[in-house]
Amino acid sequence: MKTIIEPFRIKMTEAIKLNTKEERVVNLEKAHNNVFLLDAEDCPIDLLTDSGTGAMSTKQWAALMLGDESYAGSRSWKHFRDTVAHITGKKHILPTHQGRAAEAILAQTVVKAGDIIPNNSHFDTTRANFEYVGATALNLLQEKGYDIFLDVPFKGDMDTIALRKVIEEHGKEKIPFAMITVTNNTGGGQAVSMANIKEVSKILKDAGIPFFIDCCRFAENAFFIKENEEGYANKTLTEIAKEMFLLCDGATMSAKKDGLANIGGFLVCNNDEWAQMFTNLLILREGFPTYGGLSGRDLETIAVGLGEALEYDYQKYRHATMTYLGDRFERLGIPHVRPVGGHAVFLDAKQFLPHIPSSEYPGIALVNALYIEGGVRGVELGSVMFASRDEDGNEVPSPLELVRLAVPRRVYTQSHFDYLVEVIAEVWKKRNSLRGYKFTYQAEFLRHFTARFARVEG
Ligand code: F0G
Repeated sequence: MKTIIEPFRIKMTEAIKLNTKEERVVNLEKAHNNVFLLDAEDCPIDLLTDSGTGAMSTKQWAALMLGDESYAGSRSWKHFRDTVAHITGKKHILPTHQGRAAEAILAQTVVKAGDIIPNNSHFDTTRANFEYVGATALNLLQEKGYDIFLDVPFKGDMDTIALRKVIEEHGKEKIPFAMITVTNNTGGGQAVSMANIKEVSKILKDAGIPFFIDCCRFAENAFFIKENEEGYANKTLTEIAKEMFLLCDGATMSAKKDGLANIGGFLVCNNDEWAQMFTNLLILREGFPTYGGLSGRDLETIAVGLGEALEYDYQKYRHATMTYLGDRFERLGIPHVRPVGGHAVFLDAKQFLPHIPSSEYPGIALVNALYIEGGVRGVELGSVMFASRDEDGNEVPSPLELVRLAVPRRVYTQSHFDYLVEVIAEVWKKRNSLRGYKFTYQAEFLRHFTARFARVEG
């Protein structure tokens, strides 16, 4: 059979409130043309993020009822600890309420001002946590990762020549650890090859620098390795994930992604001294080390979810959705990042709307058009989010103007995706009539969340 089906059936439904184009025009106006300010119930197809938005399985809901809410040493903690230890092979397991809490603990214990943290590409929260303590978050993505149309696997690989250079220049005194993000969210959800992880691991080991993995989407990355890297076709996703974790000294995780849970995360490592420092801060910020900001029921659902994320049929179905979208875009001539990512598809707003300059935010124009046309909520990853400033304070646009359509796990059905393609195709037909936007309000930091926009007329 050619058709890949959802490896689940639906036992419970959540109603989507459908709305009309006229209503959506009013909604967007009320939200000052910023989709972050819309009410979620006004977004029938909400692709703002894949984080914490997934649907839990019957096994997870059943596990939730088994949650042991004892303060210390609960049964649920042991279930969580043993599952995470089994997959990551790490000695010290610290539960956190989400990924950024794990990053903050790492940043505030072993990173000091002036340090450098290399990564293939830092996610916003990892970057912010390291910069907050005065360190530099350095992106060392391979050249191929910057070519958004190049259709080759493993565009999340780290530039190992650049990594060697940075180590030579700064030494291990300035680099408390280095990271790799799997899959590379900010670089289009692209996978990292095992060969690259191995090479990075060896370079760091030789230099005496610890290696951490930002493993939010480790199971999706394992799937890409199985499908595309020589020597892995006959391995299970769990075997691949275990092999990957053996190569690192520690990891940070947001269980809101490949934990298939709505909240949660963890920090793991082997180093006893670091674990002691992490634990002390965990107690201060998150909670006792056997729950770390989570309830017993959360720990249970994550323990089950981690196993389900590593099921091959689940990943095959998930990836089939992404590939389906990519193929449809290809046939319609809609500019998008190739290959499709593990958790999202990315439209190229620059090519989609070449008549709108970066200074008028083509990504916002496209995001808003998708909302008005079909109630689809995506997110701009372009100059509103990533522009910098020159010495005179002028805005320097982001090199890329992308729109991310992140796919929540096990939430939408095939007809929702057919509808999505129809909405995008309709906007594509009207693209010449779309207009850019200007700010009417912007905050000093993370302006995309609270910005207000007005359409540029004329
Ligand atoms: N690392 C990566 C690669 C992420 O994508 C995220 C979150 C985090 C860390 C932080 O985890 O949200 O649990 O604190 N990404 C979400 C997204 C928010 O929409 O891409 P968190």
